[in-house]
Amino acid sequence: MITNSKNNLVIANWKMAASLELAKALAESLLESRDNIDVAVAPSALHLNMVKNIANTNSLTVLAQDVSKHESGAFTGEISALQISEMGISGSVIGHSERRKNFAETDADVLEKIKQLTAQNLVPVVCIGENLETREQGKTLEFLQSQIEKSNLQEFDGKIVIAYEPVWAIGTGKVATVEQIAEVASFIHKLLPKSKILYGGSVTAANAKDIAQIQHIKGALVGGASLKIDEFKQIISSFAVV
Ligand code: PGA
Repeated sequence: MITNSKNNLVIANWKMAASLELAKALAESLLESRDNIDVAVAPSALHLNMVKNIANTNSLTVLAQDVSKHESGAFTGEISALQISEMGISGSVIGHSERRKNFAETDADVLEKIKQLTAQNLVPVVCIGENLETREQGKTLEFLQSQIEKSNLQEFDGKIVIAYEPVWAIGTGKVATVEQIAEVASFIHKLLPKSKILYGGSVTAANAKDIAQIQHIKGALVGGASLKIDEFKQIISSFAVV
Protein backbone atom coordinates (compact mmCIF):
# COMPACT_ATOMS: atom_id res chain seq x y z
CA MET A 1 0.00 0.00 0.00
CA ILE A 2 1.37 3.42 -0.91
CA THR A 3 0.70 4.69 2.62
CA ASN A 4 2.93 2.06 4.25
CA SER A 5 5.82 2.23 1.81
CA LYS A 6 8.95 4.14 2.83
CA ASN A 7 9.52 5.15 -0.80
CA ASN A 8 8.76 8.51 -2.29
CA LEU A 9 5.59 8.56 -4.37
CA VAL A 10 5.04 10.23 -7.74
CA ILE A 11 1.45 10.40 -9.01
CA ALA A 12 0.40 11.27 -12.56
CA ASN A 13 -2.92 13.10 -12.68
CA TRP A 14 -4.09 12.75 -16.28
CA LYS A 15 -7.26 14.75 -15.55
CA MET A 16 -9.58 14.76 -18.61
CA ALA A 17 -6.60 15.31 -20.89
CA ALA A 18 -5.57 11.83 -22.02
CA SER A 19 -7.23 10.05 -24.93
CA LEU A 20 -7.65 6.27 -24.73
CA GLU A 21 -4.61 5.85 -26.94
CA LEU A 22 -2.43 8.19 -24.88
CA ALA A 23 -3.52 6.64 -21.57
CA LYS A 24 -2.57 3.21 -22.91
CA ALA A 25 0.81 4.39 -24.19
CA LEU A 26 1.61 6.23 -20.95
CA ALA A 27 0.65 3.25 -18.77
CA GLU A 28 2.69 0.85 -20.90
CA SER A 29 5.71 3.14 -20.76
CA LEU A 30 5.65 3.03 -16.96
CA LEU A 31 5.85 -0.73 -16.60
CA GLU A 32 9.33 -1.04 -15.16
CA SER A 33 10.08 -2.68 -11.90
CA ARG A 34 11.28 -0.13 -9.38
CA ASP A 35 12.13 -0.73 -5.77
CA ASN A 36 13.19 2.75 -4.69
CA ILE A 37 10.16 4.77 -5.81
CA ASP A 38 6.39 4.27 -5.93
CA VAL A 39 4.60 5.42 -9.08
CA ALA A 40 0.85 5.86 -9.45
CA VAL A 41 -1.41 7.04 -12.25
CA ALA A 42 -4.86 8.58 -12.02
CA PRO A 43 -6.65 8.09 -15.34
CA SER A 44 -10.16 9.11 -16.23
CA ALA A 45 -12.76 6.79 -14.66
CA LEU A 46 -13.55 5.38 -18.10
CA HIS A 47 -9.93 4.28 -18.52
CA LEU A 48 -9.44 2.79 -15.05
CA ASN A 49 -10.13 -0.77 -16.08
CA MET A 50 -7.89 -0.66 -19.12
CA VAL A 51 -5.02 0.91 -17.19
CA LYS A 52 -5.47 -1.53 -14.33
CA ASN A 53 -5.18 -4.41 -16.81
CA ILE A 54 -1.91 -2.96 -18.11
CA ALA A 55 -0.48 -2.13 -14.70
CA ASN A 56 1.68 -4.71 -13.11
CA THR A 57 0.74 -4.22 -9.46
CA ASN A 58 4.35 -4.18 -8.33
CA SER A 59 5.36 -1.29 -10.48
CA LEU A 60 2.29 0.84 -11.07
CA THR A 61 -0.49 1.80 -8.70
CA VAL A 62 -3.79 2.94 -10.21
CA LEU A 63 -5.94 5.62 -8.57
CA ALA A 64 -9.28 7.21 -9.44
CA GLN A 65 -9.50 10.99 -9.80
CA ASP A 66 -12.57 11.27 -7.59
CA VAL A 67 -15.10 9.20 -5.65
CA SER A 68 -18.65 9.74 -4.48
CA LYS A 69 -19.24 10.89 -0.92
CA HIS A 70 -22.22 8.52 -0.85
CA GLU A 71 -22.03 4.80 -0.23
CA SER A 72 -24.47 3.70 -2.96
CA GLY A 73 -27.85 4.52 -4.46
CA ALA A 74 -29.46 6.92 -6.89
CA PHE A 75 -26.53 9.22 -7.74
CA THR A 76 -26.37 9.33 -11.53
CA GLY A 77 -22.86 9.74 -12.88
CA GLU A 78 -21.13 9.03 -9.56
CA ILE A 79 -18.66 6.27 -8.75
CA SER A 80 -18.64 4.61 -5.34
CA ALA A 81 -15.66 3.55 -3.25
CA LEU A 82 -16.95 -0.04 -3.39
CA GLN A 83 -17.00 0.08 -7.20
CA ILE A 84 -13.44 1.44 -7.22
CA SER A 85 -12.33 -1.30 -4.87
CA GLU A 86 -14.07 -4.01 -6.94
CA MET A 87 -11.96 -2.95 -9.95
CA GLY A 88 -8.74 -3.48 -8.01
CA ILE A 89 -8.02 0.26 -7.91
CA SER A 90 -5.94 1.33 -4.90
CA GLY A 91 -7.53 4.64 -3.95
CA SER A 92 -8.53 8.03 -5.24
CA VAL A 93 -7.40 11.61 -5.46
CA ILE A 94 -9.94 13.77 -3.63
CA GLY A 95 -10.45 17.47 -2.96
CA HIS A 96 -8.48 18.54 -6.03
CA SER A 97 -8.74 22.31 -6.41
CA GLU A 98 -10.38 21.87 -9.81
CA ARG A 99 -13.16 19.91 -8.13
CA ARG A 100 -13.40 22.39 -5.27
CA LYS A 101 -13.62 25.31 -7.71
CA ASN A 102 -15.68 23.86 -10.58
CA PHE A 103 -17.88 21.44 -8.67
CA ALA A 104 -18.18 23.24 -5.32
CA GLU A 105 -16.56 20.41 -3.38
CA THR A 106 -16.16 21.39 0.28
CA ASP A 107 -13.92 20.29 3.14
CA ALA A 108 -16.96 18.49 4.56
CA ASP A 109 -17.39 16.59 1.27
CA VAL A 110 -13.71 15.63 1.41
CA LEU A 111 -14.27 14.16 4.88
CA GLU A 112 -17.21 12.06 3.61
CA LYS A 113 -15.08 10.82 0.70
CA ILE A 114 -12.26 9.86 3.07
CA LYS A 115 -14.76 7.87 5.14
CA GLN A 116 -16.04 6.04 2.05
CA LEU A 117 -12.53 5.22 0.80
CA THR A 118 -11.05 4.12 4.12
CA ALA A 119 -14.11 1.92 4.78
CA GLN A 120 -13.02 -0.02 1.66
CA ASN A 121 -9.32 0.02 2.63
CA LEU A 122 -8.59 2.42 -0.21
CA VAL A 123 -6.08 5.26 -0.01
CA PRO A 124 -7.36 8.85 -0.14
CA VAL A 125 -4.89 11.26 -1.74
CA VAL A 126 -6.18 14.49 -0.24
CA CYS A 127 -5.37 17.75 -2.03
CA ILE A 128 -5.12 20.92 0.01
CA GLY A 129 -3.77 24.33 -0.93
CA GLU A 130 -4.30 28.06 -0.70
CA ASN A 131 -5.27 30.46 -3.48
CA LEU A 132 -3.22 33.49 -4.45
CA GLU A 133 -5.23 35.93 -2.35
CA THR A 134 -4.70 33.87 0.80
CA ARG A 135 -0.98 33.56 0.03
CA GLU A 136 -0.66 37.33 -0.50
CA GLN A 137 -2.50 38.06 2.72
CA GLY A 138 0.04 35.92 4.60
CA LYS A 139 -2.70 33.54 5.74
CA THR A 140 -1.49 30.35 4.06
CA LEU A 141 -0.72 28.27 7.16
CA GLU A 142 -3.91 29.36 8.91
CA PHE A 143 -5.92 28.41 5.82
CA LEU A 144 -4.27 25.00 5.46
CA GLN A 145 -4.86 24.30 9.13
CA SER A 146 -8.55 25.07 8.66
CA GLN A 147 -8.76 22.74 5.63
CA ILE A 148 -7.08 20.01 7.69
CA GLU A 149 -9.40 20.53 10.65
CA LYS A 150 -12.62 20.84 8.64
CA SER A 151 -11.88 17.56 6.84
CA ASN A 152 -10.85 15.95 10.15
CA LEU A 153 -7.60 14.79 8.56
CA GLN A 154 -5.90 14.23 11.91
CA GLU A 155 -8.25 11.34 12.61
CA PHE A 156 -6.96 9.62 9.45
CA ASP A 157 -3.26 10.43 9.88
CA GLY A 158 -1.20 7.64 8.32
CA LYS A 159 -4.13 6.33 6.26
CA ILE A 160 -4.05 9.22 3.81
CA VAL A 161 -1.55 10.87 1.49
CA ILE A 162 -1.52 14.68 1.45
CA ALA A 163 -0.91 16.59 -1.76
CA TYR A 164 -0.02 20.19 -1.02
CA GLU A 165 -1.03 22.02 -4.17
CA PRO A 166 -1.06 25.82 -4.03
CA VAL A 167 -4.02 26.69 -6.30
CA TRP A 168 -2.04 29.50 -7.93
CA ALA A 169 0.66 27.02 -9.01
CA ILE A 170 -1.60 24.45 -10.72
CA GLY A 171 -1.34 24.47 -14.48
CA THR A 172 0.08 28.00 -14.42
CA GLY A 173 3.80 27.34 -14.80
CA LYS A 174 4.27 29.22 -11.48
CA VAL A 175 5.91 26.77 -9.14
CA ALA A 176 6.08 27.60 -5.44
CA THR A 177 9.60 28.38 -4.21
CA VAL A 178 11.61 25.81 -2.28
CA GLU A 179 11.24 28.02 0.83
CA GLN A 180 7.46 28.28 0.44
CA ILE A 181 7.11 24.51 -0.02
CA ALA A 182 9.50 23.77 2.87
CA GLU A 183 7.58 26.02 5.26
CA VAL A 184 4.25 24.39 4.39
CA ALA A 185 5.64 20.83 4.41
CA SER A 186 7.04 21.20 7.90
CA PHE A 187 3.78 22.78 9.09
CA ILE A 188 1.69 19.92 7.67
CA HIS A 189 4.14 17.35 9.01
CA LYS A 190 3.62 18.70 12.54
CA LEU A 191 -0.14 18.30 12.21
CA LEU A 192 -0.05 14.98 10.33
CA PRO A 193 3.24 13.29 11.26
CA LYS A 194 2.31 9.86 9.88
CA SER A 195 1.07 10.96 6.45
CA LYS A 196 3.18 11.18 3.32
CA ILE A 197 3.26 14.75 1.95
CA LEU A 198 3.52 15.38 -1.80
CA TYR A 199 3.91 18.68 -3.61
CA GLY A 200 1.86 19.50 -6.71
CA GLY A 201 1.63 22.52 -8.99
CA SER A 202 3.64 22.97 -12.21
CA VAL A 203 6.14 20.22 -11.36
CA THR A 204 8.44 19.68 -14.35
CA ALA A 205 11.67 17.81 -15.08
CA ALA A 206 13.47 21.13 -14.55
CA ASN A 207 12.26 21.79 -10.99
CA ALA A 208 11.69 18.24 -9.68
CA LYS A 209 15.23 17.74 -8.36
CA ASP A 210 15.04 20.81 -6.11
CA ILE A 211 11.57 19.90 -4.88
CA ALA A 212 12.69 16.34 -4.11
CA GLN A 213 15.36 17.68 -1.73
CA ILE A 214 12.86 19.50 0.50
CA GLN A 215 12.50 18.06 3.96
CA HIS A 216 9.18 16.27 4.57
CA ILE A 217 8.31 16.25 0.84
CA LYS A 218 7.92 12.61 -0.14
CA GLY A 219 6.90 12.94 -3.76
CA ALA A 220 4.82 14.84 -6.28
CA LEU A 221 1.39 15.03 -7.87
CA VAL A 222 2.00 15.91 -11.49
CA GLY A 223 -0.55 17.14 -14.03
CA GLY A 224 0.62 18.57 -17.36
CA ALA A 225 4.13 17.10 -17.29
CA SER A 226 2.77 13.61 -16.60
CA LEU A 227 1.34 13.49 -20.12
CA LYS A 228 4.85 13.62 -21.61
CA ILE A 229 6.50 10.23 -21.21
CA ASP A 230 10.16 11.31 -21.16
CA GLU A 231 9.58 14.27 -18.91
CA PHE A 232 7.51 12.25 -16.45
CA LYS A 233 10.21 9.60 -16.28
CA GLN A 234 12.77 12.27 -15.45
CA ILE A 235 10.51 13.50 -12.65
CA ILE A 236 10.25 9.94 -11.32
CA SER A 237 14.07 9.63 -11.32
CA SER A 238 14.41 12.89 -9.40
CA PHE A 239 12.27 11.50 -6.60
CA ALA A 240 13.78 8.02 -6.63
CA VAL A 241 15.91 7.58 -3.51
CA VAL A 242 19.07 5.71 -4.27
P1 PGA B 1 0.03 20.69 -13.00
O1 PGA B 1 -1.21 20.04 -12.23
O2 PGA B 1 1.22 19.81 -12.73
O3 PGA B 1 -0.37 20.71 -14.43
O4 PGA B 1 0.22 22.07 -12.42
C1 PGA B 1 -1.04 19.49 -10.96
C2 PGA B 1 -2.35 18.98 -10.45
O5 PGA B 1 -3.39 19.54 -10.80
O6 PGA B 1 -2.41 18.00 -9.70
